[in-house]
Amino acid sequence: MSKSHLELTNVQMAFDTKEGPFVALENVDLKIRKGEFVSLIGHSGCGKSTVLNIVAGLLQATRGGCVLDGHEVNTPGPERAVVFQNHSLMPWLTVYENVELAVQQVFRKTMSKSERRDWILHNLKLVNMDHALDKRPGEISGGMAQRVGIARALAMKPSVLLMDEPFGALDALTRAHLQDSLMEIQQDLNSTVIMITHDVDEAVLLSDRIVMMTNGPAATIGEELHIELPRPRNRVTLADHPEYVRYRQAVLSFLYEKQRFPGKGEKGKDKPAVEAEAPQQDDDTSVPESDDAESPVRRIA
Ligand SMILES: Nc1ncnc2c1ncn2[C@@H]1O[C@H](COP(=O)(O)OP(=O)(O)OP(=O)(O)O)[C@@H](O)[C@H]1O
Ligand SMILES: [Mg+2]
Repeated sequence: MSKSHLELTNVQMAFDTKEGPFVALENVDLKIRKGEFVSLIGHSGCGKSTVLNIVAGLLQATRGGCVLDGHEVNTPGPERAVVFQNHSLMPWLTVYENVELAVQQVFRKTMSKSERRDWILHNLKLVNMDHALDKRPGEISGGMAQRVGIARALAMKPSVLLMDEPFGALDALTRAHLQDSLMEIQQDLNSTVIMITHDVDEAVLLSDRIVMMTNGPAATIGEELHIELPRPRNRVTLADHPEYVRYRQAVLSFLYEKQRFPGKGEKGKDKPAVEAEAPQQDDDTSVPESDDAESPVRRIA
């Protein structure tokens, strides 16, 4: 029997603002099994980072909550590593020291000093940052800092890896390399991953399930799409796979046909929602039925 490993139940998140409470999330229910790779996708400002921050223990839901392996999540913990949307390195530490801090936190008792050093270097090499060990965050580019943040998270061998648009700031080649590495590492460690992305192709390539959020305020989970493509996955051979194309189309249809207008007054109005071409609009703009036999989508709300 598959027991749920990570569970969000009836989550509401209301922020206090000058104008009164702002309900960003409402009735968010999500069950994730151990080792599952889940992508969260939705228009800008809908509440994806808020969901991730609740799982990270950085935000406390105003109703409902998050349970990991039977324990309620109230605070951050080293078993849940986070790659933040805006890279968040300690500015006074070098690249090496930023990763070292995390590695010491987790492996101080189980790895020798030289094993820790090898492990830090291994992870920095993985993201192609081993040439800049002694640089400080202020001396490297945003994309490089993001890569160090990814190395830091992976180096913790987390049970749950939480990634907020981890590859958004990277060039296409680095992004592809890191996506492939992430798939391998995730398979090896059987880590549970929740990744926020605006990139539909990335979501389909990497995920076991794509969770699509409705527009806020009071955003919730609109639809879920189980990606049943065999692993290991290869981006080149998948590109023409009929199922791949169908999954991709289902996500685009959710975003551009069903949830095409980001919430009023949200920051999403200023920025493209996803990094993929919108489907061609034809005369029939009716919302396709999601629960017919042809559709891989399960409608939630
Ligand atoms: N601390 C806060 N106080 C008030 N409102 C907030 C706070 N944090 C987030 N919000 C609001 O909650 C909503 C969801 O924000 P969130 O950052 O989760 O969106 P997102 O889906 O991650 O967007 P993006 O794709 O642009 O990163 C937005 O309307 C945002 O303005
Ligand atoms: Mg965000």
